[in-house]
Amino acid sequence: MESDRSGRFQRVVLVGFMGSGKTSVGRALARLLGWSFRDFDAEIESRTGRTVPEIFRSRGEAFFREVEERVGRRLLREERIVLATGGGWGAVPGRLADLPPATLSVWLRVAPEEAVRRVRADGTERPLLETDDPLKRARRLLAEREAAYREANLVLDSESAPPEGLARTILESMRVSGGEASVPHAKNG
Ligand code: S3P
Repeated sequence: MESDRSGRFQRVVLVGFMGSGKTSVGRALARLLGWSFRDFDAEIESRTGRTVPEIFRSRGEAFFREVEERVGRRLLREERIVLATGGGWGAVPGRLADLPPATLSVWLRVAPEEAVRRVRADGTERPLLETDDPLKRARRLLAEREAAYREANLVLDSESAPPEGLARTILESMRVSGGEASVPHAKNG
């Protein structure tokens, strides 16, 4: 039964840097749970009718962050849902401490070198990495964001397993912790 698989959790929020695999792990986990899946960037794009890079170009990052915040607030009311956030959403200090009850937060950790490699490979433009030296920018952003990401209930090394394997690890930890407010800070690498 679904409830046996998810403990008493109602939602899972995946946070982490660009290229950490939030979308692919989120989809795999939603499939295993039989829950819905939503991706923040896709929601933002369908609400505004513009792509994320277009929003950054035409309205600026501050506007993007406002829309992202609103989308996040709305999606966090849903139940039986897996949410793939954008890399900046979980980087706001205190945001993960403020999640609704019955929410499991998971940080998918990735090294900056691997993040830049994956982002290049997937061909989707990431406005914040459009610089002469994306690796330097990724290192700086990650250093700034790490403390906020670390607030997640569960920390997984995204390079340790393919998306399906990471999804299974998350599912297992949901079962073990049974939906308690806090899950021990598990690490898999
Ligand atoms: C951002 C990450 C992107 C997207 C936007 C800003 C960030 O999402 O929201 O380009 O600030 O790290 P992904 O993490 O899904 O790439």
